[in-house]
Amino acid sequence: AQPVIVAIDGPSGTGKSSTSKAVAGQLGLSYLDTGAQYRAITWWMVHNGIDIDDASAIAAVAGKPEIVSGTDPAAPTIHVDGVDVSGPIRTQEVTSKVSAVSAVPEVRTRITELQRSIAAGAGNGIVVEGRDIGTTVLPDADLKIFLTASAEARAARRSGELGQGTDVAATREALIKRDAADSSRKTSPLAKAADAVEVDTTELTLAQVIECVVTLVEEKR
Ligand code: C5P
Repeated sequence: AQPVIVAIDGPSGTGKSSTSKAVAGQLGLSYLDTGAQYRAITWWMVHNGIDIDDASAIAAVAGKPEIVSGTDPAAPTIHVDGVDVSGPIRTQEVTSKVSAVSAVPEVRTRITELQRSIAAGAGNGIVVEGRDIGTTVLPDADLKIFLTASAEARAARRSGELGQGTDVAATREALIKRDAADSSRKTSPLAKAADAVEVDTTELTLAQVIECVVTLVEEKR
């Protein structure tokens, strides 16, 4: 069979990561979390004292960190200059700064090239999740999915992931702010591709979303 390329985009808290990993695992495909790459470059900027509000400072060093993504859906990994940053990229500090870093065009060009080369090298095919995969990174993907959900459902899911004691209202505000920033930036904003299949996950269980996407991939194969 030809390698199948699946693009899964959408805002935070729609179940993109859980869905993408499960679909890739069930179908024997590779998996790429592009949000983790933007988080990794953001972590590197913070770690090296780069001023996040200074786009030209970010642009000047955008090519410096070496970012390596492991694409096994059962155990995805992310390294920056040889350091495993899978924990540190999930901190609130990185989460609050990633939209500013990922809006810098030099950062996007760099990470987009990396994503295309990983997708091209995935023998069996790959599920790539992000914000601009169907529109910009892989416009020729065999299947494009755009996941949505109500703000309430997304905030509740994210709070559930973050654990007990999480302030749902604060999580909701932070999530809405990040999605607004990601949707309004000039370079490849979060957007649904014209040929993407939109799946509203508000009333669906994760298992239902996975089944829906697996069926759509199988129809393309
Ligand atoms: O998916 P995740 O929440 O880990 O993404 C973190 C951030 O990375 C997003 O809020 C967005 O700013 C950026 N991102 C992006 N383009 C992608 C994937 C993520 O700009 N394809």
